[in-house]
Amino acid sequence: MSEYIIALDQGTTSSRAIVFDKKGSIVSVGQKEHEQIMPRAGWVEHDPIEIRDNMREVIGIALGRANLTRHDIAAVGITNQRETAVVWDKNTGIPVYNAIVWQDTRTQPIVDRIAGDAGVDRYKDIVGLPLATYFSGTKIVWILENVEGAREKAEAGDLIFGTTDTWVLWNLTGGPDGGVHATDVTNASRTLFMDLKTLAWRDDILADFGVPRSMMPEIRSSSEVYGEARDTSLLRETPVAGILGDQQAATFGQAAFDAGESKNTYGTGNFLIFQTGTEIVKSENGLLTTVGYKLGDEPAHYALEGSIAVTGSLIQWLRDQLGIISSAPEVEELAAKVEDNGGVYFVPAFSGLFAPYWRPDARGAIVGLTRFANRNHIARAALEATAFQTREVLDAVNADSGVDLTELKVDGGMIANDTLMQFQADILGVPVVRPVVAETTALGAAYAAGLAVGFWNDLDELRANWQEDKRWTPNDDVAERERQLRLWKKAVTKSMDWVDADVN
Ligand SMILES: Nc1ncnc2c1ncn2[C@@H]1O[C@H](COP(=O)(O)OP(=O)(O)OP(=O)(O)O)[C@@H](O)[C@H]1O
Ligand SMILES: [Mg+2]
Repeated sequence: MSEYIIALDQGTTSSRAIVFDKKGSIVSVGQKEHEQIMPRAGWVEHDPIEIRDNMREVIGIALGRANLTRHDIAAVGITNQRETAVVWDKNTGIPVYNAIVWQDTRTQPIVDRIAGDAGVDRYKDIVGLPLATYFSGTKIVWILENVEGAREKAEAGDLIFGTTDTWVLWNLTGGPDGGVHATDVTNASRTLFMDLKTLAWRDDILADFGVPRSMMPEIRSSSEVYGEARDTSLLRETPVAGILGDQQAATFGQAAFDAGESKNTYGTGNFLIFQTGTEIVKSENGLLTTVGYKLGDEPAHYALEGSIAVTGSLIQWLRDQLGIISSAPEVEELAAKVEDNGGVYFVPAFSGLFAPYWRPDARGAIVGLTRFANRNHIARAALEATAFQTREVLDAVNADSGVDLTELKVDGGMIANDTLMQFQADILGVPVVRPVVAETTALGAAYAAGLAVGFWNDLDELRANWQEDKRWTPNDDVAERERQLRLWKKAVTKSMDWVDADVN
């Protein structure tokens, strides 16, 4: 009897394998961080081989900790950091370059070139996205143009592309020996190449970018059997049956399936997703239009998304670059030592500003400094930055949808921070709600896989698994909320227009 589903979460900072039972409860976890490779300002890379090997290891750890074998596992689900691009040789399985990570801004000149006179919204009506370094499309172009011999090999049909879901799937299902080269609609919707209506690659856009069609994976639904894990895997012969990009997976794991339902994930960055059902809604307020999920042959469900590049990674920056804390939770201790931010605002525009501004010319700024300010104020300002950015994205969602959200469902690593969650509620003016299973990203991938193999029967069964754990209620100091928001917005303007021809 197979009583469990395993989810493989290939994240920005780590790879995780999590075993879930039928109630959606966590049975065991294996997790391993991988190196963040930053060769120069603005560049962020991962080693795909390290990721592949870590994934194999964490599968072993998760199974071992629960004393399980592949016979206990009904299906495998995959979820992943979404726009990170890997290009590899399909004959050897060796990547021609490191994975270029979603935060990487090196492709701005390629973005500018392709945008040309038409501007960054050149393909927005078709793909739902503005041209930006964030998405995987221009990262493929960079590899083809900068890695010696890559273009020739790609044109000869030897190189293939994938986001990390595809990289994990291909390796798990055999690699050079018959590996399945596929992705799901949610990941495909982040490339700049997929038509939201037809859910197919656009040959004209691929041609504009100069990316050979033969590199692209097959686009499949988010919930179906893609293939089976192969001989060398501890999961051999287990069906791989679900793929969702991490943010869509978290939404699915929050059981936010229907139009009007939403969630906000606080991880490396923050991502608020608002489901719009089977309707494709165009944003007037700086949000992306993306695919929410597609179950087998059923129609695709779409969503609006507010993507914020830097939230949790700012806390890591305080730890790794500034050295004022030695672990992420310590930021709360520093922040608690002061009554307020002392007038300090921290705009973490490390990769420019994403939603709702989309300003590649912005860079990080700490403003409002006086002789009074100390490290505690900076820690507090760093935490508050997450809440302010979220408020601006929520305002955009409210404006686009025409209805104000009455509460915010949250998940991700940062929601362990009570000070942040209370401040978030205060700044939003609506309650913030955390579910019992906070690992919603992995849970969503498990749900997609479990639905495909009949482990779960329908969405109602999944809805019944959702349980509230904690709720933060806003204070009623509206004047203070508005004052802080005004200062935040002023701080944001100070981060803009920083990048010049000779500054990156
Ligand atoms: N107590 C805390 N206070 C503030 N931030 C925290 C706290 N604990 C963790 N974080 C931040 O949360 C982030 C990790 O959250 P999570 O594991 O959800 O990230 P993620 O984006 O999903 O990562 P990955 O992409 O690797 O899956 C880190 O950036 C870390 O700095
Ligand atoms: Mg994650």
